[in-house]
Amino acid sequence: MAKIILGIESSCDETAVAIVKDEQLIANIVSTQIAVHTKYGGVMPEIASRLHAENISIVIKEALDTAKVKLEDLSAIAVTRGPGLIGALHVGIQAAKILSLLYDKPLIPVHHLAGHIYANEFVKPLIFPLLAIVVSGGNTELVIMKDHLNFEIIGETKDDAVGECYDKVARVMGLPYPGGIPIDKYAKEGRHTYKLPHPLNDKSYDFSYSGLKTSIINMVHNMEQKGETVNIPDLCCSFQETAIGMILDKALRAVKEFKVKQVVLAGGVSANSYLREQIQSRLKNTNVDVVIPPMWCCTDNAAMIAKLGSRLYDEHLFADLSISVDPSWKIDDFRNF
Ligand code: KG4
Repeated sequence: MAKIILGIESSCDETAVAIVKDEQLIANIVSTQIAVHTKYGGVMPEIASRLHAENISIVIKEALDTAKVKLEDLSAIAVTRGPGLIGALHVGIQAAKILSLLYDKPLIPVHHLAGHIYANEFVKPLIFPLLAIVVSGGNTELVIMKDHLNFEIIGETKDDAVGECYDKVARVMGLPYPGGIPIDKYAKEGRHTYKLPHPLNDKSYDFSYSGLKTSIINMVHNMEQKGETVNIPDLCCSFQETAIGMILDKALRAVKEFKVKQVVLAGGVSANSYLREQIQSRLKNTNVDVVIPPMWCCTDNAAMIAKLGSRLYDEHLFADLSISVDPSWKIDDFRNF
């Protein structure tokens, strides 16, 4: 009998449902809320939850119709349990619980960032030891995997996530949300002329982005008060090379120390052109394999949740209906729910 996993993702501002049948993606529906949140310059959690609640059943139906699959045919329901926005996560998990109860299907809680890492399996098989550079709007961490489903966080941000920093820096420059996209675009037209701080430039694998963010906010406000013009392309280029440079330096050191065979990018910031180019070029003449996820699986999607859900199904990592969300679920604790 075919193994058919339905995945549900609602951790932030995308309502997404996908279906994986015997490891093949047969439906991948994403309803994004970006146009609504753009008006506020960032994700409004209450609005995100309400829009998920309005859209979830429509997106589930569209995925089933696309895949030509009935709920009765499913092997299990996989759903993002965390990390993410609490209200947004609740909508996905409640939908998954209802389907699990009504159709008597196993319920599989999936870690959102582990999902982003496993999205790389749509490109090629994972090879261990592996370094995952996990960079999104809510998280920045370096994760070593010695085998499947074995996650060790070797470093993480002490304050803001890199994507959050992109979004705040874009806002002070008057650029639209999500800030990573316009900053990446302008950075290509500018030069690295602004001197910016490089916090936690130390032997650890940890990161810090709040100092960099504050220094740019202060710099822009000071220049505005003095009537000076900010050179947007140059500031974008200086910021991007500093923010991504911090990740590249530490990731390349980890590759050596942990004798890594493969590096994968995961999360929304893995769409960044500078990160993608630099990680490939700096590892070009080595034996390290670099996997760059296609753009469609850098942003939030449920294909990655169904894909990882399929592996967790084989491990019988099922939850009962008393399960709840965990907005700050750690990746190395993913078996605990
Ligand atoms: O993983 P994601 O879709 O959402 C979660 O955080 O769950 O990541 C969104 C983040 C936003 O902060 C956005 O500004 C950033 O990814 N982003 C980028 C780029 N495209 C999106 N950051 C840098 N460069 C990009 N090209």
